[in-house]
Amino acid sequence: MKKINIAIDGYSSCGKSTLAKQLARELNYIYIDSGAMYRAVTLFLLQHNINIQNHDEVIGKLDEIDIYFEYLDGNSTTFLNGKNVEKDIRKMDIAKQVSHVAIISEVRQKLVKQQQHLGRDKGVVMDGRDISTVVFPDAELKIFVTAEIDIRADRRFQELKDKGIESSLEEIKSNLRDRDYIDSTREDSPLTQAEDAILLDNTSLDRASQLKKALEWAQERIEMLNSSSGS
Ligand code: DC
Repeated sequence: MKKINIAIDGYSSCGKSTLAKQLARELNYIYIDSGAMYRAVTLFLLQHNINIQNHDEVIGKLDEIDIYFEYLDGNSTTFLNGKNVEKDIRKMDIAKQVSHVAIISEVRQKLVKQQQHLGRDKGVVMDGRDISTVVFPDAELKIFVTAEIDIRADRRFQELKDKGIESSLEEIKSNLRDRDYIDSTREDSPLTQAEDAILLDNTSLDRASQLKKALEWAQERIEMLNSSSGS
């Protein structure tokens, strides 16, 4: 059975990664959190006291950064230079800086190359901002997820709380607004809905209903691919 690639893009904290993880589990595909890669680069730069506004300084450090994922207890986990950084990259100091790092073209080129390599054999569900438009422009299924800002802020607050990370709802909301603005207005690969992406507004959808819709779309595409190739 031939596999497809699934690209999921959308604003910060709109449920992309929840959907992507669920889809990957149902289909037995690999889940890749591309945002975690930008977060890991940001963590490295902060740990090494690099001035993020100084792009030459950032670019000079990129060769020292090695990011990869491993499944631990069934969860995709982010590693930076051999260290599990899954929890560290979710913290607010990273969320505040990551969009400034993600505007740097050389950072994007490095990560996009790695993301495309990870998806070369298909069977990948990847979420981010430019997956449908830049990373996998030929993905068989593209979904653009959106939800109202208050709902998104509430969900992120709960998620951080569940992970034992302290935050405030107001701070989260303002961070989401800032990131949405920077991510969708930057020059290189701004967040935008691909022409052939399906819009999924999950403001009033629970996780199960969202998954049901997306699974139907995925299964349609998988069937189409396999019937057209005769395998
Ligand atoms: O999905 P996330 O919130 O973990 O992403 C963190 C930041 O990384 C986001 O604000 C913008 C950037 N990003 C990006 O520019 N391109 C991607 N494909 C994924 C994330």
